[in-house]
Amino acid sequence: MNYKTSLIEIPKALIQKNNIEQIKKLSALKKAKNHILSGELVAFPTETVYGLGADATNGKAVKKIFKAKGRPQDNPLIAHIANLDQFERVVDTKIDNDLENIINTFWPGPLTVILPKSNLISKITTANLDTVGVRMPSHPVALSLIEITDRPLAAPSANTSGLPSPTRAEHVLDDLKGKIPLILGGGACKVGVESTIIKVEKEKIIILRPGGISREELAKISERKIVRKNNSKNNKPLAPGMKYKHYSPETKVFLYTGKKEKLHRYLKNNENKKLALVFTSETIDELKKRNEFVKNKNIKIIDIGSKTDLKSIANKLFYILRELDKSENEIIIVEKIPERGIGEAVMNRLYKAASEKL
Ligand code: TXA
Ligand code: MG
Repeated sequence: MNYKTSLIEIPKALIQKNNIEQIKKLSALKKAKNHILSGELVAFPTETVYGLGADATNGKAVKKIFKAKGRPQDNPLIAHIANLDQFERVVDTKIDNDLENIINTFWPGPLTVILPKSNLISKITTANLDTVGVRMPSHPVALSLIEITDRPLAAPSANTSGLPSPTRAEHVLDDLKGKIPLILGGGACKVGVESTIIKVEKEKIIILRPGGISREELAKISERKIVRKNNSKNNKPLAPGMKYKHYSPETKVFLYTGKKEKLHRYLKNNENKKLALVFTSETIDELKKRNEFVKNKNIKIIDIGSKTDLKSIANKLFYILRELDKSENEIIIVEKIPERGIGEAVMNRLYKAASEKL
């Protein structure tokens, strides 16, 4: 169906004050509620990335998410909740002390927990799995929407499948205009990469996707051993021409791993190409000191932030990739950053987005 998509901005002051009660009273939220309860989609801000929400108990509504994003039907969605009562209604399992501790520490926030599902959650949401990913987001607009509808909301990132996740309402509009009725605007997402997804087993926690909560933070709280399912070693940049693509702009992305000679050779051999170098402040300082490439008109240098502030790099990553995709760059070269803290999530996305290593 072709929708007339409205983007309604929620007042900044209410968001800054985390004023959920006032946000719930806005006419925008009432509109959003009517859409959700009549089985339609609403895009909304979370602290990680924008989500594309539908009532997770309504299979027919959830199907529309897959259609609007062009997402494969076998890729399950996360159910977003606003309180612990709702949590109990969407899962069917006993919560031990360790897990309770984890939840109390990190919720609301960028952590998704995979657990056996209850019958309340539609099988369409979980792509026929017996488990459901559950997350309590911290953005007040997300919490308001879940509370006002009193429904768990199935919500993937609100982008076209395969593209970088949206961290601004405008990105959602770029991808989904005409495909959904309503976007709630709530400013730039603070975290900027998606939630960490964990599966809690008897003796260990498996990180299925690194994200806003780091492995180190989890290890501080949990008594269980923390393991990563796909570590970066089997997640190397893909060979050129390979079909599988994720988090990736239309423009080709290369990963700069710090091999200066290789980079220099590449830049010299491709002098006539329009290149965007997304580098850390430290590396840019070095290039400037040596007066290298800074005067080449075909090379655009973008500062992604300091290596000493990985959170700020994570916050800018998807935004920068999307902005660069809008101008005429032929190749985007992004510098590797340390894989600790949220750097693990950043590098996980970059390994998937990149088609070559420099
Ligand atoms: O931060 C986030 O998690 C954002 C915001 C909107 O909350 N959501 C998000 O959703 O990133 P999505 O659909 O783009 O990514 C969810 C990931 C997918 O890779 C999916 O395969 C996995 O979670 N997933 C969902 N349910 C699962 C389950 N029951 N078992 C294993 N993986 C699951
Ligand atoms: Mg996604």
